[in-house]
Amino acid sequence: MRIVSGIQPTGNLHLGNYLGAIRNWVAMQDEWTAKGGECLYFLADLHAISMPHEPAVLRAGTREMVAALVACGIDPARSILFNQAQVPAHAELQWLLTGTARMGWLNRMTQWKDKAGKNREGASVALFTYPVLQAADVLLYQATHVPVGEDQKQHLELARDIAQKFNNDFAPKGENGEDAPVFTQPEAIIPPEAARIMSLRDGSAKMSKSDPSDMSRINLTDDADAIMQKVRKAKTDPEPLPSELAGLKERPEAANLVGIYAAMAGISQADVLAQFAGQGFGAFKPALGELLVEKLAPITARYRELRTDTAALDAILAQGAARARALAVPTLERAYEALGLLRG
Ligand code: TRP
Repeated sequence: MRIVSGIQPTGNLHLGNYLGAIRNWVAMQDEWTAKGGECLYFLADLHAISMPHEPAVLRAGTREMVAALVACGIDPARSILFNQAQVPAHAELQWLLTGTARMGWLNRMTQWKDKAGKNREGASVALFTYPVLQAADVLLYQATHVPVGEDQKQHLELARDIAQKFNNDFAPKGENGEDAPVFTQPEAIIPPEAARIMSLRDGSAKMSKSDPSDMSRINLTDDADAIMQKVRKAKTDPEPLPSELAGLKERPEAANLVGIYAAMAGISQADVLAQFAGQGFGAFKPALGELLVEKLAPITARYRELRTDTAALDAILAQGAARARALAVPTLERAYEALGLLRG
């Protein structure tokens, strides 16, 4: 049982990143490693160059993401934490798989269509082959399970198709003529309640690091005073909280704050309403602020300390990459061999 997942490195991590993907990784690490499973988590820095980017921003963002992951509970002793660029086998296997992936399959990818938009001629080749690299990321390690958001489900399906076609076309037979597949078909794990956290200033926009207003988000660098102030100033409406979930419809800001409370307290939104029904935001906001401060304090403290410790962050990545490189060798060699490529 082996979990493999990647995340694009971005800087300025915030509550939305934590409740969206990172917290789920931590939960899976704790659950799987206790049962003897393995977790490989990586920063998809090679994927990040498929869109226009600034090298200095990518470099800083990669380190910040490592700091955030570790501060949030990814333990480099229990999980293998690394960045793709330090494990050349990802890029190598990707090339080998481009012989198997079909143009038609990639043309159907919705992320490609969305990101290239009307300007396909001007899109990078990397944006088009992005899902092949993603397939290499997981097939390289014989991943059995891949936690991803709903938006990445199609890319996982593609990885399965590539694995199947490659096995079918190239896998040699075993000694007794039995099938000896080169790649394992990975299963996607889509977390059921991957919380979608919205801006504190606009309940219809996602919480985002690129929102010009810093009041729209809770950063993982914010201290207790900043968190309390941002919650106090969060946009709301004049109504008290309803007793039923249906009463949050058409009230995106209220729904967002209730969602954040539920996610942080580890209870359902219905439970939050049961507790606060009939109360106004004058009562709910301080309760939410205090909950956030209490739960985030250990994370933000560790994050602020770690993110400037470049040497420690680079050492974590170097150590994770060495372990990943060792795990990647057998599958990569089998893929070369299956394709008839001499390796001496
Ligand atoms: N494409 C993923 C995203 O944007 C990141 C990613 C890259 C990934 N390689 C992966 C996720 C392999 C899971 C497995 O979220």
